[in-house]
Amino acid sequence: MFNNIFENKKIIVTGHTGFKGAWLTLWLLHLKANVVGISKYIPSNPSLFEILELEKNIKHYTADVTDALKIKEIINLEQPDFIFHLAAQPIVSESYVDPYTTFHTNIMGSANILDALRSYTRPCNVVMITSDKCYENVEWIWGYRENDELGGKDPYSASKGAAEIVIRSYVQSFYMNSENIKIVSVRAGNVIGGGDWALNRIVPDCMRSWAEKKQVTLRNPSSTRPWQHVLEPLSGYLRAAQVMFENKKPLQGESFNFGPNAEQDYSVLDLLKKILEYSSFTQEKEHFKIESNNNFHEAGLLKLNCDKAKQYFDWLPALNFDKTAAFTASWYDEYYNKKTAKSIKEFTWQQIVAYTLEAKEKNIAWAL
Ligand SMILES: NC(=O)c1ccc[n+]([C@@H]2O[C@H](COP(=O)([O-])OP(=O)(O)OC[C@H]3O[C@@H](n4cnc5c(N)ncnc54)[C@H](O)[C@@H]3O)[C@@H](O)[C@H]2O)c1
Repeated sequence: MFNNIFENKKIIVTGHTGFKGAWLTLWLLHLKANVVGISKYIPSNPSLFEILELEKNIKHYTADVTDALKIKEIINLEQPDFIFHLAAQPIVSESYVDPYTTFHTNIMGSANILDALRSYTRPCNVVMITSDKCYENVEWIWGYRENDELGGKDPYSASKGAAEIVIRSYVQSFYMNSENIKIVSVRAGNVIGGGDWALNRIVPDCMRSWAEKKQVTLRNPSSTRPWQHVLEPLSGYLRAAQVMFENKKPLQGESFNFGPNAEQDYSVLDLLKKILEYSSFTQEKEHFKIESNNNFHEAGLLKLNCDKAKQYFDWLPALNFDKTAAFTASWYDEYYNKKTAKSIKEFTWQQIVAYTLEAKEKNIAWAL
């Protein structure tokens, strides 16, 4: 898997205490990497990071990515071979409550990582995680391509569009001919999977409520999203890092989309019904009720064209819609119905193993 290139490498993961960061950290630990995590806080309770007891197996810094000096100090001290920058304020609704922190964290956090590397002398491969929401969403029916216009109406989307411009500027100004620093940015869509308890995200909201036998109110049941399991973009991030490391293709400053297959566009309602098919949550009344009033703008259709990732990385999604829902539902079932710390840790790792087998069966390059 990944040509074993992560074995014994020093890898900084910012945002490692979050949903995607915890899955990535677990995967990297099984790839025998030395993981150094930088996060400001643990963003949810319960938390996947705590459930997996990741702190026992990594070096953990509680630090703010907006603190430029601290970030530079950690990078210089730890001497990483790879950096995955995930730390962000990632919630659209929260970006309306606190736009300043969203802009500050998501833009200056990215700038601080790239600035710290200007004086770094060892080789380092950097994967900057932004979002599919970095595109100017003109609500068209086609998938967005990496060279489409950047933008973002709500503060979160705008902060990710801005982070992309900052990344592009750093690459063009300082790293275009760098011998040691390689940088790509990666854009993924709405990610689902076990262990997410973020507020105001549809799957975590449902799981929390259904576990307490409460009904969920749906704001935008017909919104279509490019739903994908969390392991899909993570396999893309790891593959991008592998290809950068192996230096087989010039990738400096390139951006890549990682999303589900084009036909995998489903509404919020489709997704929840499918998850319920694979869940054992029981209710006395309906699992959800539909209410279409909300006060803030959230984009309608938004999907990604992933031809570039296929072309450069031989990357494809490994799970269809049913399996994406099944992986997600079964994780929460395991958590809420068994609740033994040991089994859920093992179960989480087994999902990575099962995901890898799915990828192998489809001859996806990273898994072979
Ligand atoms: N989850 C999704 O559906 C999704 C979709 C597209 C992009 N993304 C991006 O993926 C990344 C991870 O998202 P997630 O869902 O795991 O988020 P999360 O909320 O679960 O975790 C966020 C992480 O960022 C850290 N963080 C926040 N502010 C920080 C700061 N100032 N300094 C240091 N650390 C800070 C938190 O401590 C936490 O570790 C984010 O960049 C997000 O924008 C997520």
